[in-house]
Amino acid sequence: MQSLTELRSWRQQCHKDGKTVAFVPTMGNLHEGHIELVTQAHQYADYVITSIFVNPMQFGKNEDLDAYPRTFEADCDKLKAVNNHVVFYPSVEDMYPSGLSAQTVVSVPNNEFEFCAEATQRPGHFDGVATVVTKLFNMVQPDTALFGQKDYQQVRLIQTMVKDLNLPIKIVPVPTVREKSGLAKSSRNGYLNDDQKATAAIIFQALTAVGETLQNGARNISEIQTFAIEMIELAGLKPDYLEIRDAASFAPVNDKTTEAVILVAAFIGKARLIDNLVVKLNNAK
Ligand code: PAF
Repeated sequence: MQSLTELRSWRQQCHKDGKTVAFVPTMGNLHEGHIELVTQAHQYADYVITSIFVNPMQFGKNEDLDAYPRTFEADCDKLKAVNNHVVFYPSVEDMYPSGLSAQTVVSVPNNEFEFCAEATQRPGHFDGVATVVTKLFNMVQPDTALFGQKDYQQVRLIQTMVKDLNLPIKIVPVPTVREKSGLAKSSRNGYLNDDQKATAAIIFQALTAVGETLQNGARNISEIQTFAIEMIELAGLKPDYLEIRDAASFAPVNDKTTEAVILVAAFIGKARLIDNLVVKLNNAK
């Protein structure tokens, strides 16, 4: 369904019938990662609704908004195959009736995210995500919403936003789905040819190598970062960042850190790929 009126009356009926709703927000061009979200969503509610909306507000000026693949029919077929109940696909005009520049912005403060490389590398991106997800939450009024952990920093942003705005929605992070090579499934993999896809597997190899190094007790963080960035560069990618942080606070890893996250973004061909790995550390609590 495309219209908000139709969506609202469906949602009201769910309330009346005492049915719960799980929500998977997407920008379409669905891959196995999204399908896993929809599949898992069935565990949380009576009905599963997926939105498809390529959100202009979260793309920077020089990013791939126009090129972003729109594959609506194929997406609907994939969703049907996993018993998704409703596809909501609002138009840009309905989402931003007064235009983007007049839109009220939901901005999660940067204090918790000062270590969040994705926010610094893509200014305005997370305001765009927080704003559209808030709007979608207000439209769909889900009980539960599921997000892929590939976008680790996005998941953290949404969790903070839901807590800060007292939204009665359970946020469920779902582990990243990977190719056999380790490459994280992503809509942007569609920009890559087979050779580039094979090459891009270096991202996961670098993450794994860093993870093992940390688990073996190494704490020379900036040297490890430099090593991993060089590893990615040597394979022919252009690293944007590789950061090793406390998985909970994004603070730099220290002797007390019990769980670290390695966050990475790198360019290959026309794609900017992101990925991450969370590793437990054998540090004293
Ligand atoms: O992860 C995405 O696909 C998008 O950032 C989201 C959450 C659908 C908001 O546009």
